[in-house]
Amino acid sequence: MGEMISFATLERQRDLLRDRIDAAIARVLDHGQYIMGPEVAAFEIALAAFTQASHVVGCANGTDALTMVMMAEGIGPGDVVFVPAFSFVATAEAAAQLGATPYFVDVEEGSFNLDPASLGRAVEDAANGRFGRSRLVIPVDLFGQPADYTTIGSIAQAAGLTILSDAAQSVGGVADDRAVGTLAPWTTTSFFPSKPLGCYGDGGAVFCDTEEKAELLRSLRFHGKGSSKYDTVRVGLNSRLDTLQAAILIEKLTTLAPELERRQAIADRYSSALADIAEVPRVRAGARSAWAQYTLRIADRNAVAERCKAAGVPTAVYYPRPLHLLGGYEGYPVVPGGCPISERLCGEVLSLPMGGYLRDDEIDRVISVVRG
Ligand SMILES: Cc1ncc(COP(=O)(O)O)c(C=O)c1O
Repeated sequence: MGEMISFATLERQRDLLRDRIDAAIARVLDHGQYIMGPEVAAFEIALAAFTQASHVVGCANGTDALTMVMMAEGIGPGDVVFVPAFSFVATAEAAAQLGATPYFVDVEEGSFNLDPASLGRAVEDAANGRFGRSRLVIPVDLFGQPADYTTIGSIAQAAGLTILSDAAQSVGGVADDRAVGTLAPWTTTSFFPSKPLGCYGDGGAVFCDTEEKAELLRSLRFHGKGSSKYDTVRVGLNSRLDTLQAAILIEKLTTLAPELERRQAIADRYSSALADIAEVPRVRAGARSAWAQYTLRIADRNAVAERCKAAGVPTAVYYPRPLHLLGGYEGYPVVPGGCPISERLCGEVLSLPMGGYLRDDEIDRVISVVRG
């Protein structure tokens, strides 16, 4: 077995940026404004510029970002929130936490994203109100590729649903010349360390399209504050982005564009070498993935994963179970006909090493081990 390949090459990024990040952390220690220091707003402005989003509001993590948007929309008991069954649990958890009803919809085979046809069936099924009022749909840009917001948008509009884009994995992605962060009225993301733009702990943000919404989010993340700290005007959360994490993110944002280019090149290299033995990920025309993960579908997934492990090639299974079959979520509604694609994907998907600093010789080694 050769040397273990890095799954996300985060340590190479750390080595590249170490001096700048050390200096950024030292500046925070010097000024001492650990909560809502100047780096928070500076990072929000930099990320808004990167994505062309009107407003970015940082918060403590990607799950809180989802929760804050739902609080801003007044989602609660008696409300139905449509979510894909193939995602990380946080997408459904935020709705359930607020007492709303997550309703599970199936995904498309090629993109792994919310299937508009399945959403259409779900909306019809829920139209008589037996699960509550249909309020929101949360498309997830799984593994970095934007969901089909155009088609989902028409269904949502006809049904009176608001769209919240869960872009935890897709900052840097593009659809029809528009960047993730601008594809829906509300977009949330996560800066969990392994995300394409990750910090060194927990962090998250909401992208929105009006100053009024941004102001509401700034209140919600700070215990529902009004014009001053102790003037509370609504029930909120403690969900601020740490100054230290913002300082780190400012530095990391400077290398995101070349990293995205490199991720695309790696994905292209994998896809051309593996398309004859596996279902390689498909990206819609006009869309660009941020390639948070490179995920293929392969027969004998577990045997391939074992072979990779033995040869020093780390792999991961995102996700082994669909959301509607997870503990705590079995009681919630599922689209008529169920979510067979989500269930099948859970048994077939395998994510290969992917990161902005993976070398060509390492990619070739991964390819040769996967081919067996
Ligand atoms: C699709 C998706 N939604 C939400 C989250 C939640 O983000 P966080 O871990 O920052 O709370 C994650 C990642 O962890 C995710 O992958």
